[in-house]
Amino acid sequence: MRVLMLSRSSLEGLNIGMSEIIEAVERGFRLKGEGKVSMPAKIGIHPRKDCFIHAMPCYIGGEVDASGIKWVAGYPSNQEKGLPYISGIMCLNESDTGLVKAIMDASWITAYRTGAASAVCAKYLGNPDSKVIAVIGLGVQGRMNLMALMEVFKEVRQVRVYDVFPSQIERYIKDMSSLFRQCQFVACDSPKEAVKDADVVVTCTPIVESPKRYIRAECLKEDVLAIAVDYDSSFCAPVMAEADVFVCDDTGQYLWTQEQGVYFQDGYPTKDKIYADMGELCAGLKTPVRKGRRGAVLMGIASHDVMTAQLAYEKALDKGIGQWIEI
Ligand SMILES: NC(=O)c1ccc[n+]([C@@H]2O[C@H](COP(=O)([O-])OP(=O)(O)OC[C@H]3O[C@@H](n4cnc5c(N)ncnc54)[C@H](O)[C@@H]3O)[C@@H](O)[C@H]2O)c1
Repeated sequence: MRVLMLSRSSLEGLNIGMSEIIEAVERGFRLKGEGKVSMPAKIGIHPRKDCFIHAMPCYIGGEVDASGIKWVAGYPSNQEKGLPYISGIMCLNESDTGLVKAIMDASWITAYRTGAASAVCAKYLGNPDSKVIAVIGLGVQGRMNLMALMEVFKEVRQVRVYDVFPSQIERYIKDMSSLFRQCQFVACDSPKEAVKDADVVVTCTPIVESPKRYIRAECLKEDVLAIAVDYDSSFCAPVMAEADVFVCDDTGQYLWTQEQGVYFQDGYPTKDKIYADMGELCAGLKTPVRKGRRGAVLMGIASHDVMTAQLAYEKALDKGIGQWIEI
């Protein structure tokens, strides 16, 4: 059996733009909302405290007809070892035969598709006139989320940032300010200062089992889009539970995870408080909301991975990139 291997550098060499990935992720959401996606909640193992290795399978039907699984690890302790937080492999299967057709680096897929998912959320729940974005946690996701959000919000002029490590703040501002010269970057001493006056807040800190949540509802503007990329680590429960609308990326996965009794506890929204999931919004089953406090928990779902991997696979075939191996 011949399988196409795509390393991180091969994936980077495909030069896929963020806007293409946003489009793919949005299509995956829409097909899910239309009931054409088979996607169980991600399951995981936890070999070390606060660390996970997740299995994320998905079949996307409709016009896409793509199948795959991501096996992805998240280790906060890797930062001090100089290793990436997120690592793993992505596998695509032929939907007709089940045969594996491609294996690729999952860190690239995860980095891009996660930012893209926030951008899709921003398309449906953001105020297009947003001027100020706050980013908390300035690693890979802090960067990818800003890059993706800037595709949606063309009027942003200020980016307020916070990280526990001043060196991360410094590096982030140096790198990102050269990409977005129209924006003033403000280094903040606390999350409270960072979220002040922000129209959009996105949190990208490590996911931990016993979080010390520190972004309180009173610190936020009345009209704000609050996106958690880091489960329930940063936003205090009332930010989400008392929001004008609360959304998640997939209701089934959010509720299943909550039922396990570790994440989304202590007052995080329960089933009755979910306005919609992103699939329903993208499929037109629920109306977009652009005012008031809009809380979003985007845990990351397998449809993003399969959509992004399929896009990369098709581009790689087209450009003759990657290495074929016999397995
Ligand atoms: N929802 C999704 O789809 C999805 C996908 C990928 C990653 N993630 C999550 O996003 C988070 C960030 O991942 P990453 O790849 O960017 O990791 P990273 O290690 O590259 O970045 C994490 C950053 O958070 C900073 N940080 C640590 N503790 C902090 C705190 N208390 N307050 C503020 N900053 C703090 C670190 O210094 C670092 O800069 C993780 O929780 C990861 O699991 C979510």
